[in-house]
Amino acid sequence: PRQFFVGGNFKLNPTSRAQKQALVKVLNDADLDLNTEIVISPPSIYLIPLKEIVRKEIKVAAQNCYYKDSGAFTGEISAGQLTDAGIPYVILGHSERRTLFHETSKEVAQKTKAAVAAGLSVILCVGETLQERESGATTKVVSEQLDAVVKAIKEEDWGKVVIAYEPVWAIGTGKVATSAQAQETHLAIREYLAKAVSPKVAEDTRIIYGGSVNAGNCKELSLQPDVDGFLVGGASLKPEFVDIINAKK
Ligand code: 13P
Repeated sequence: PRQFFVGGNFKLNPTSRAQKQALVKVLNDADLDLNTEIVISPPSIYLIPLKEIVRKEIKVAAQNCYYKDSGAFTGEISAGQLTDAGIPYVILGHSERRTLFHETSKEVAQKTKAAVAAGLSVILCVGETLQERESGATTKVVSEQLDAVVKAIKEEDWGKVVIAYEPVWAIGTGKVATSAQAQETHLAIREYLAKAVSPKVAEDTRIIYGGSVNAGNCKELSLQPDVDGFLVGGASLKPEFVDIINAKK
């Protein structure tokens, strides 16, 4: 059985150390379902201080890393530096990075390769735009995003990867995918993995959903057989994040 996984992607929030501390307090005081793997991802400047104050059952994740180990790459952080700082996870290929910062699937694959080589676990984000969905290209787009990673890492590395299916049209829009839409694409991703990697990797890999998840819609989504958890943006900054972590409770 795949362990349920809930990640909070704080994006470029919170905007002060005081706010960061308030967020952590809510989580530290809450009655959390500890059968769920819980990961929170603050801006890099807060990774280490957050790790030090958050309860030990909650892991922290960087929102990005670079694929080079060191050198003249101003503004970047390497996978090895994250490992050295005791950070266990990194989010890669988020749609905001692909769109606003022009990351290609090839770069996302290079980053994934560097991350697993450094011992990090990866939350690998994929997803289609509204136009791509409406033209029936969802499976093709998501498979192409994954293809680059399949070429870059070894079969055993997939044990360190959680796939986050985040349809671009659902991110930050309040327009959540229906549970049928999520299930259909998660199953397509699993079928893709069975063919492109192996049936075992398809069976074992967690595929989580992201895009306007909230306390009200998480339960029904969590009942879908191929939805293994969530990557939460906006709602991860609110007390309702606790209800999403506890969706299976
Ligand atoms: P929202 O939950 O705010 O739609 O964001 C989803 C997301 O991008 C998580 O990575």
